Parts: sequence; structure tokens; C-alpha cells
Amino acid sequence: MDTHDNNQPHPATRPKPSKIYCLSIPILFLAISLSFFTKTSHYFGIQHLKSTLTSNPTYFQELLGFLYSNQNPTKTQQPNHISLPSHCVLWMAPFLSGGGYSSESWSYILALDENMNKTKFKLSIKQHGDLESLEFWEGLPQETKNLAVKLYQTECRVNETIVICHSEPGAWYPPLFQTMPCPPTDYENFNFVIGRTMFETDRVNAEHVKRCNRMDYVWVPTDFHVSTFVQSGVDPSKVVKVVQAVDVDFFDPLKYKPLDLVSTGNLVLGSRNKDLDSKAGFVFLSVFKWEYRKGWDVLLKAYLKEFSGIDGVALYLLTNPYHSDRNFGNKIVEFVEDTGIEEPVEGWAPIYVIDTHIAQVDLPRVYKAAHAFVLPSRGEGWGRPLVEAMSMSLPVIATNWSGPTEYLTEENSYPLQVDRMSKVMEGPFEGHLWAEPSIDKLQLLMRHVITNVAEANMRGRRAREDMIRRFSPHIVSGIVTDLIGNLLDRMI
Ligand SMILES: *[C@@H]1O[C@H](CO)[C@@H](O)[C@H](O)[C@H]1NC(C)=O
Ligand SMILES: *[C@@H]1O[C@H](CO)[C@@H](O)[C@H](O)[C@H]1NC(C)=O
Ligand SMILES: *[C@@H]1O[C@H](CO)[C@@H](O)[C@H](O)[C@H]1NC(C)=O
Repeated sequence: MDTHDNNQPHPATRPKPSKIYCLSIPILFLAISLSFFTKTSHYFGIQHLKSTLTSNPTYFQELLGFLYSNQNPTKTQQPNHISLPSHCVLWMAPFLSGGGYSSESWSYILALDENMNKTKFKLSIKQHGDLESLEFWEGLPQETKNLAVKLYQTECRVNETIVICHSEPGAWYPPLFQTMPCPPTDYENFNFVIGRTMFETDRVNAEHVKRCNRMDYVWVPTDFHVSTFVQSGVDPSKVVKVVQAVDVDFFDPLKYKPLDLVSTGNLVLGSRNKDLDSKAGFVFLSVFKWEYRKGWDVLLKAYLKEFSGIDGVALYLLTNPYHSDRNFGNKIVEFVEDTGIEEPVEGWAPIYVIDTHIAQVDLPRVYKAAHAFVLPSRGEGWGRPLVEAMSMSLPVIATNWSGPTEYLTEENSYPLQVDRMSKVMEGPFEGHLWAEPSIDKLQLLMRHVITNVAEANMRGRRAREDMIRRFSPHIVSGIVTDLIGNLLDRMI
């Protein structure tokens, strides 16, 4: 992740043009190129993109094209078409953005790849729908990079392809902003086109409903979404629940040593704590993009009201900007002044911010260094940091509303009660509703986990068991291959 906040991105946010890696292909040019080569060859793939888009290739195309030509200069001689099935699943997603859709799409690709020799289709991937981050790509494990290069080269015939558009519906054909469209050409050219998306509020807006209904199917991650999509007007026969995978082998607490948080984070409030240096303290961790939806205000209030400098606790915020600058220390100090919370006589309980890039490969070590994970969001699509923390056997305190209700239980976590629903005040979802988690209840739960450590750890262990049982890549790839298998049966 760009700073491994792998939370869901704000789905209707247009990619902000970045000077270096932005998708700067003019849509018209792209559309012309695509219709040209689909008419002439019925294939699409990197070779075509390389030849048709060389005037302005995306970073991903350049990168993969470069790796490919270095590693594999004689591709045409490979017996791909002989050994592989001809039917194809083309997964289009922001693989290189490092955001929520990005990590989610990787989780499917990695899961499917493990089962590839059992499937009746081949798999191809294409970058679509979001920014591309070199930092994120570089932080990926080498096997993942190798797989990306391999799948990026897989060619599919349009007339034998199921396309998955894994992104916010504004990126779907015809896209509302500059991106490689998905599906790459008109819907009818493909066997099936499936949208994969989710939202964090109580409804789906009219434009998105229309776009969902253009798809053959819409895959959503939770029962919460099945109900909000159908209630908003998406054709119920199109809405299918497909849960997300969490890489339980990668996020395995037995495999990691804790990261040294004290030297990684910046102390922004309170003073350094001897207990924590001597490992006798209790570390709360939260991972999120700096946006109001994530309830950082709720978290700061609850934490600062409940704890003081003598409680032996610390709060670490692993965060990154979301339409804001990086000066989180100032934002926190200003917030505390504005809200008028009294400094306890024993001094503030310490708050640390980690805003440097932590490579994906090091992310488990951050979780490993914490004793509990806390995220009082107002709404979540799925909540990747939550399932990652749960997979790392951490006790989790999280708002009991929206996506996470799919997996939070009183046995495996600490579901945080909601006070009321509130109106979204700005942004693309203005006027929708989301949840206001209870600050009082959050205080109680945070106090509870530091005083009932054995119980909290037991819930953390149960959390990992539940993640393995319900969302391990093996289970989820079975769900996806069954769904695709059913579609393939209908094609023959
Ligand atoms: C499929 O792959 C798995 C692991 O990669 C391997 O153990 C198994 O033998 C393979 N099955 C076939 C039919 O090739
Ligand atoms: C797809 O089109 C190609 C070339 O036009 C043809 O050879 C192939 O049989 C078609 N596949 C299906 C499933 O119709
Ligand atoms: C969480 O929400 C569900 C309904 O979605 C409810 O049944 C359950 O009691 C709630 N749990 C807590 C602790 O509030």
C-alpha cells in the first residue's frame, strides 16, 4: 500500500492526476486503438497494448513490458495456447494502486493462481481504474511480481472471455474519468461482464445503480451490501455475495518478529513510556487513511479521555494522507485543542504516528507489535486492516455496522455499538447515512481489553480461526471458481 493503509478507498473518488504515474492516455485515443485491434485480431493483451499505446503507455504497461522483454524474449514460441484452456477470465483492477481495491484484487488473484491447475479457464490481469504507485509495486513480494508479469502476458480472445471489473462503478465503461475502461470494449463483445464493487454508506447512488445494472452480475463482499444494493434498485438477480480473502499464511503471527514501533513512529502527544520500552505496556494500533469516515476523531477522543500518562498504554496510528497533507502531528494537536479535552494531571497518554512507507512485506510485523487493534469507522466496505489484524490473532475493536458485520462477533472481537446514524456531510456520498460509533462504549472496550488481557487474547485466537475457516484464499478461490465454472457451463 502506498503507506500500507490498505483500507477501502473512497469508491467514487476520481484518481487525482499524479505527475509521475498518472494514467494519461486520452480516452478517445484508447477507444480508437482498442476498437482497431479488436476488429483486426480478436485478441487483446500486452503485445497489442504495447504496439498501440506506445505513444503514451501507463507505468504498469511500461514496467511489465520491460520485465517481460528482459525475462522472456521469445514469447511467441511458448506453447501457451496448447496447454491452457481457451476460456479466459480477465481480471481488471487497480493492481498497482496500493489501495483497498488493489489489495482485494491481489487477494483473489493469488488465491485463484493456487488453484489454477484445477480450473477450466486461464487467468489474465490488466491494470484499471486507479493510480499506479511505484512504491507499492516495489514493496510486493517477488513471487507476486513474477505472477503479475506472467498473468499480464496471458492473451484472451474477446469472444471467450469473462471480464471482471474490480473497481468503483465510475471506472466502468464508459468511464467517468481517465482510465483504461472496463470492459475494454462494449459489453456485448464478451461472454459475461461482472462488476466487483462495494460502498461504505447505507445506499448506492442512482448513477452507480445504473452502472451496476449494465453488468451481467455484481459481486459484493457482504450481506450488508447485498441488502443496500438491492434496496437502492440494483436488480436482485444480479447481486451475488462473494466474500474477500485474507492471506492467512502471510498474516500469520507465528512467522514474524514485532517491528520496533518506538523507533518507527513519531511521538505526537504525551511522553515516551518506560513500560512500553520494557515491553510491559499495552499497544493499541489503528491503520487507516486520514479521512473523517475512519472515525479518527472518535478514536482520539475515546483514547485521550480514557487514558493518561500512567496507564502504560500507547496508541499507534499507521496512516497516510487522503486529500490532505502529511502533517498528522499538527492535525492531532489542533484537534485536541479544538475539542477542549482536558490534559490529565498525569499527562497525556502517548500517541505515535507512523506515516513513513512500510513495505507490504513488513506489514505483519506492525500488527505483531500491537496488543489490540482499534478502528471506530463510520462505514467500511470490508475493512481489510480488520481482517489482517484478526488473521494476526489480535483482539479487534471495530464499529458494528456495514461491511465488518459480515465477520465481527462477540466471540472473535469486540463489536463497537453504534449511537445513531448520521448524514454524510460532504464528498460524493453527501446525504447518505453512516454510523456514529459510541465514544463511551469505545472507552469501555479499550479499558476492558487492557484489564482482561487473557480474554482479549482468546478472542484474537478465535479471530484467526474464523479467518482461516471462512476467508482463507483456498476457501475463497473455491467460491470464485465455482461461480465462474457455472458461467462457463452456460457458455458451452
Ligand atoms: C496442482 O498444483 C498443486 C500445487 O501447486 C499440486 O500439488 C498438484 O499436484 C497440481 N495438480 C495437478 C493436476 O497438476
Ligand atoms: C472466437 O473467435 C475465434 C476467431 O474468430 C474462433 O476461432 C473461436 O472459435 C471463437 N470461439 C468461440 C468460443 O466461439
Ligand atoms: C451488532 O450488530 C448486529 C446486527 O447487525 C446485532 O445483532 C448485534 O447484537 C450487534 N452487536 C453488538 C455488540 O452491538
